[in-house]
Amino acid sequence: MKGKKIVLGITGSIAAYKSAVLARLLVKAGAEVQVVMTPAAKEFIAPLTLSTLTGPAVLSEFFEERSGSWNSHVDLGVWADAMVIAPATASTLGKMANGIADNLLVTTYLSCRAPVFVAPAMDLDMFAHPSTKRSLETLASWGVHIIEPKEGELASHLVGKGRMAEPEEIFQTLEKYFDGPAKKTLEGLSVLMTSGPTYEKIDPVRFIGNYSSGKMGKAIAEELAERGAKVTFVSGPVESLPKSDNIHVVSVESAEEMYRACLSVRDEYDVAVFCAAVADYRVATPNDHKIKREQVGALSLDLIPNPDISAELGKLKSAKQWHIGFALETNAESEAVIDKMSRKHLDMIVLNSLQNEGAGFKVDTNKVTIFDALNGGTVDLPLMSKRNVAKAIVDRMEELRFI
Ligand code: C5P
Repeated sequence: MKGKKIVLGITGSIAAYKSAVLARLLVKAGAEVQVVMTPAAKEFIAPLTLSTLTGPAVLSEFFEERSGSWNSHVDLGVWADAMVIAPATASTLGKMANGIADNLLVTTYLSCRAPVFVAPAMDLDMFAHPSTKRSLETLASWGVHIIEPKEGELASHLVGKGRMAEPEEIFQTLEKYFDGPAKKTLEGLSVLMTSGPTYEKIDPVRFIGNYSSGKMGKAIAEELAERGAKVTFVSGPVESLPKSDNIHVVSVESAEEMYRACLSVRDEYDVAVFCAAVADYRVATPNDHKIKREQVGALSLDLIPNPDISAELGKLKSAKQWHIGFALETNAESEAVIDKMSRKHLDMIVLNSLQNEGAGFKVDTNKVTIFDALNGGTVDLPLMSKRNVAKAIVDRMEELRFI
C-alpha cells in the first residue's frame, strides 16, 4: 500500500463513521488518501475528522465557494491508483450504475481510470430491493469490485446482509489487490496445526476452558494455505474457522481428543504449528449428570494433568519434521523460552506477552517475539494485525528454511 494513491469516497450512511477507521488504516499503511464526500455524508461524519486523519482537505463540491476554484474530478480520476467507496448507499450505487453525475463523488467515479471498489451499506430491505441488486450486478459487470462482509462472522448473523464490511476487511481487499496473489512457495508442504482453546468437561453442562479465540491460528493457517501448503487444522471450540480448499478442519473439544487427532497424523506432516491454548489439567472423573448445588455444597474438583501435545509429538518427531510452538507469558524471560524450546524439541517459539496492550486473546492485533533454535536468534515484531503477524511468522519460517 506504500505510496498508493487512494480516492476514498464516503456517502450518507450511518456506517460513514467507520470510514474514519478505514482512512486511518490506509494512511498507516503508507497510502496517500484523498477523501471525497457526498453532501449527505457530511451529516454523518465531519469532514474535519477525515482531513485530520488523511492530510488534504476533503472534497465535496464542484466549486470551492470562497475561491471559486474548480475541483477537477478528471484530475482525481487520473491521479488515483484505486477508488474505494465505503460506505456506498443504494442511492450512490444507483447513480453510478446509471451515470447520474450530480455530485463530485459520482463524477469522479465516471472519470476514474483506476479500479473501483464499493462497500455497500444499507438496511436489509433496501439491499434486497431489485433496484439495488440491478445496480450491483451492472457495476460488477463493468469490473467494479463489490466488497461484502465475510460470511460466517458472528456480526453478520446479528445484523444481516447490507451491513458494511468492516474497515479491516475493506483494507485487506485493497491490500490483496495491490499485492497480487501470494506466491505458491509452499506447494507440496504438509502442515499440522493445533488452534483454539480446549474444553475439559466437568459435567454435561459445564467445562473448564480458557479465553483463546483461535484467531492467531486461523490467520496462520490461511497464510500457509494461500502459499500452497496443505494444512490439517485441529481446532478446539471457536467461533470462526479458516476456510480454504487447502485446509482440512478437524474439530475437537478436549486436550485428549486434540492429542489423539494429532497422533493419528504424526507421520504425515512436514511442519507442525502448535498454536492451541491447551488446558494443562482435566477433571479426573467428569460427572455423567449435572452436579446439583444442593447435593454437594462446597465443591472441589480433582484435576489431573493433560498430555502436553507439543512435547509428546516432539519426542516422536523425525529429523525431517519441524515443530513451532507458542508461548504466552505474563512475565517473559528469554531463558525460560529457550528452555521450553529445548524441552519440547521445538525449532521455533513465538512468544506473546500479555503485558503488551493490544496483544493476546480475543483482540485482532498481536505483538510477538520469535525465537529460533537454529541460530538462537530473536526477532521482535511491532504491534500488527494478526493477519500481518501470521505473514511475518510464515516469512520467518521460510527464511529459516523450516519450510
Ligand atoms: O508450556 P506452555 O503451555 O507454555 O507451552 C505452550 C506451547 O505448548 C504451545 O505451543 C502450546 O500449543 C503447546 N501445548 C501443547 N499441549 C499442552 C500444553 C501446551 O501442545 N498440553
